[in-house]
Amino acid sequence: MTNGHILGIETSCDETAAAVVRAGEQVLSNVVASQIATHWPYGGVVPELASREHLRAIVPVVRRALEEAGQSYHSVDAIAVTQGPGLAGALLVGVSYAKALAFALDKPLIAVNHLEGHIHAVLLEERQRGNREIGFPVLALVVSGGHTHLYLAEQRERGWTYENVGQTRDDAAGEAFDKVAKLLALGYPGGPVIDELSKHGSTDAVNFPPAHIKGRSRPGRSRRRVGADTPGMTFDFSYSGIKTAVLRYTETHNMQAAIEQRRRALAAMKSPKADDVLKLCDRQTLDLVASFQRAMVADLVGKTLHAAGELDAATLFVTGGVAANSELRQAFEREAAGAGLPVYFPSRPLSTDNAAMIAAAAYPKFLAGDFAGPELSAEASLPLK
Ligand code: KG4
Ligand code: ZN
Repeated sequence: MTNGHILGIETSCDETAAAVVRAGEQVLSNVVASQIATHWPYGGVVPELASREHLRAIVPVVRRALEEAGQSYHSVDAIAVTQGPGLAGALLVGVSYAKALAFALDKPLIAVNHLEGHIHAVLLEERQRGNREIGFPVLALVVSGGHTHLYLAEQRERGWTYENVGQTRDDAAGEAFDKVAKLLALGYPGGPVIDELSKHGSTDAVNFPPAHIKGRSRPGRSRRRVGADTPGMTFDFSYSGIKTAVLRYTETHNMQAAIEQRRRALAAMKSPKADDVLKLCDRQTLDLVASFQRAMVADLVGKTLHAAGELDAATLFVTGGVAANSELRQAFEREAAGAGLPVYFPSRPLSTDNAAMIAAAAYPKFLAGDFAGPELSAEASLPLK
């Protein structure tokens, strides 16, 4: 029996990442090449540039991950890669490279869903801490730049199963952070800078009404029909309204000139940090940002805990880039404790995109012999099941 050393490769969005993880729980290396500097001037990810940067970075990033793990191309037991969801051209780079590597080395190839990866980032670190007593079902909130999805997750004999019980109807939560940062000229990505700036503003200065989701939820397959006994209530999310409300606020409060001034000042800087942005923000902007973040956090926490109660979840996972948000973590910890529900997050480096989570999610598939064939293709809208 091997030790289950899996080389994970992740290229779904704007990070080229490779990692070696042993037995789904010991991270031997975790290399992430960020493309933030490439996309920064555009205030968001430019898909064509992302593919080009992945092509440039993939070989050195994989080589470094193997070196740091004390492994070689030949010593790893399997190669795992993100199949989707994500940007088609970006995914293609990782999938083609992983397929070529697996074929040339005659190693098993394992296809991993990116969202499953985010969920396994939590499991990986809980196992590292010696926590093997996770109660089921787990309700996992995957909250990132591309997703705000709720899954009921269970471990079965031949691996994990996931049931989608809620999702955003329009923008993802991370997308709302990024778009609000862009329209206020705070830089990219928006989440980390808004997280920092919010500490300096008043959270109740601007009132954002909660998003109303029309219609009942889609029929669920779970033991209790999703939201069936609460007409009009669903576990879906919606964040395009709050982004528009922020824009409206800047227009009705004559903030445009100050925003343009900040945009020019930041464009002249090499790679501005949150502190540089802070110096360019007046009280009105800081209050707006802090109130926006508070409203986002209240909505994410409120809807997730409501779903957890309705679905009798035993454990809560909060994962994905937005799970790095400090106010979100505090609010979840406080509210989940109040509801008597254990809540787990990945550490901050494993909250945002990385390949350790891909290698960890691949391990149960490795044990089950669930391998991909040479026909494996990248799937931009791959659902998690
Ligand atoms: O998981 P991730 O790295 O990539 C995707 O799969 O999308 O998530 C990136 C998203 C971005 O929208 C970014 O603004 C957000 O996560 N993010 C945060 C924080 N750190 C990253 N959002 C709020 N607070 C943060 N501290
Ligand atoms: Zn992600």
